[in-house]
Amino acid sequence: LSPHLKLFADDVAQHTAAIVGEQADPAYARRLESVGGRLLRIPEVDGHLDLKALLHRLGRDGGRDGLPMQSLLVEAGPGLATALLRQDLVDRFFLFVAPKLVGEGIPVLRDLGITRMADAQAFAEHTWETIEGDLLFRGYRRPV
Ligand SMILES: NC(=O)c1ccc[n+]([C@@H]2O[C@H](COP(=O)([O-])OP(=O)(O)OC[C@H]3O[C@@H](n4cnc5c(N)ncnc54)[C@H](OP(=O)(O)O)[C@@H]3O)[C@@H](O)[C@H]2O)c1
Repeated sequence: LSPHLKLFADDVAQHTAAIVGEQADPAYARRLESVGGRLLRIPEVDGHLDLKALLHRLGRDGGRDGLPMQSLLVEAGPGLATALLRQDLVDRFFLFVAPKLVGEGIPVLRDLGITRMADAQAFAEHTWETIEGDLLFRGYRRPV
């Protein structure tokens, strides 16, 4: 992301944390620090951020004013959602289903490494709710 984005300069930039790999461009740090934001450097694994290390870091001091972050909503595409599920880092999974057909479209998830239905990732609890004509699935991977 360019450090010139509004994301790094708007009214809430001081509460914005950019999460980057350890080798990231120092321009992020300078830009964010100039508006009071934070840059968190996280180790990388196989060319991606180490998600477990990231969650540990956020749980330690990743919240506002350096407090522990207790809840994280990830608005993910298929790559990140699959990576989080494969590493069992998801407590709650929300999915909207719209009454529309688009053919193959963009997959919600990529390969989870599951070949038998018996090995499917299941939910301890789940609900279905209709919201303005769409269906919202809320699945809880562990008992609430
Ligand atoms: N709510 C939604 O429906 C929703 C949300 C987001 C995106 N989308 C759609 O999904 C499609 C793909 O979007 P996207 O590429 O932004 O989303 P994505 O596939 O979730 O990827 C987002 C970022 O996650 C990181 N990532 C991927 N695999 C990872 C792994 N194994 N470990 C750690 N980080 C990983 C990648 O960063 P690095 O490569 O730098 O590691 C990537 O830039 C687009 O068409 C988008 O519109 C839909």
